[in-house]
Amino acid sequence: MIPELDIDPYAPEHLIAPYPMHQQLREAGPVVRLRPYPTLVACARHEQVQAVLGDHTHFISGAGVGLTNFHREPPFRPRSLILEADAPLHTQTRAVLSRIMSPKAVQQIRAGFAAEAEALVDRCLQKGENKGEICGIHDLAQAYPLKVFPDAVGLADGPERENLLLYGDMVFNSMGPRNALFEKSVEKVGPVTAWIMAHCQREHLRPGGFGDQIYQAADAGEISQEQAPMLVRSFLSAGVDTTVNGLGNALFALAQHPEAYAQLHADPTLARPAFEEALRWESTAQTFFRTAAVDTQIAGVPVAADTKVLCLLAAANRDPRKWPEPDRYDILRRPSGHMAFGSGIHGCVGQAVARLEGEVVLAALARRVKRIECTGPHTRRLNNTLRALGSLPLRLIPA
Ligand code: HEM
Repeated sequence: MIPELDIDPYAPEHLIAPYPMHQQLREAGPVVRLRPYPTLVACARHEQVQAVLGDHTHFISGAGVGLTNFHREPPFRPRSLILEADAPLHTQTRAVLSRIMSPKAVQQIRAGFAAEAEALVDRCLQKGENKGEICGIHDLAQAYPLKVFPDAVGLADGPERENLLLYGDMVFNSMGPRNALFEKSVEKVGPVTAWIMAHCQREHLRPGGFGDQIYQAADAGEISQEQAPMLVRSFLSAGVDTTVNGLGNALFALAQHPEAYAQLHADPTLARPAFEEALRWESTAQTFFRTAAVDTQIAGVPVAADTKVLCLLAAANRDPRKWPEPDRYDILRRPSGHMAFGSGIHGCVGQAVARLEGEVVLAALARRVKRIECTGPHTRRLNNTLRALGSLPLRLIPA
């Protein structure tokens, strides 16, 4: 018997405060059913989330990594050639994107990303001096990835880059149910989709950037010319809203934990572990799905072919079976094995870039800012998949 709970993880109260729900799901069993979604099973414990994501033969991505089962309903947008693909297509596209995002490639962008982080923190300090406060989300967490990532992909600069935020919001909402959040983000996205698709074309991409390198792989015959713009779309869909919230959640964690910020300020080399721990503590991508390819089992519990499996990454990241004092944000923890970037063959292909962004922003802050204080209540931006803040009023006290 699989425990069945009357819980809707997409209900606003659970999106606002997911942790009590995660605890209920984890404690009910290794695999649970949710009454509002009778066709799926859910895993909230670290062991099972890791096992499902690590077994791409039994648990596939090609039927979608959201709630919608592409075997029964068409995808909301043409499916991703990497995220929503299985072998052999995934093997082919992943090889190209992994190479473009290789450690060597990330090393080459490091100095530019670090300089941009320092310049931005200086601008925030100036703004703070004039106005008394900044918005941690708008002025830092959004401003930074919107500058460095599209630059690296090779998009022209300008205010239209904000389209990437609207598009990301819609893509991550589309992985949940067709609820009001999804409908609203689709309404807002309107002409943005056409802008995104146009900017996936080679003529909009600076030669040598990450986007152009995808076209070079097509020139070399590794992928087709038709696949190239779709893979640029993967960078534009997955590479901005994720890091925006990764940074926003890290700022939130540090603002809520002055003792952790004091440790970081005393030793800026803790920037990387502080970001990593923020990803564990407040996972940007809360959930992803798989679909059972055949009749199979999870923790000995039978799971029928074509069943959707909800993997609660954020719940796994606070599973007390895996982490001592899981609710504590502890920048000395070194949380290797967290699920914030997923796991297995679909584990985030952009994680080195995301880590670079987190590290250089937190290091720039640590060196220039003595204390971060919350000056008012924050607001949440609800999304079916992402843990996101709408605003975070902060005062930065210069070092
Ligand atoms: C803090 C920032 C980020 C987080 C938390 C994050 C999280 C994730 C997660 C959990 C997955 C696995 C999805 C699954 O298993 O179905 C994933 C995959 C992916 N991510 Fe990220 N991501 C981040 C940043 C980025 C960036 C900067 C890029 C682009 C350079 C990127 C591109 C991708 C792509 C293309 C995939 C699909 C990989 C595959 O299916 O093989 N992500 N990401």
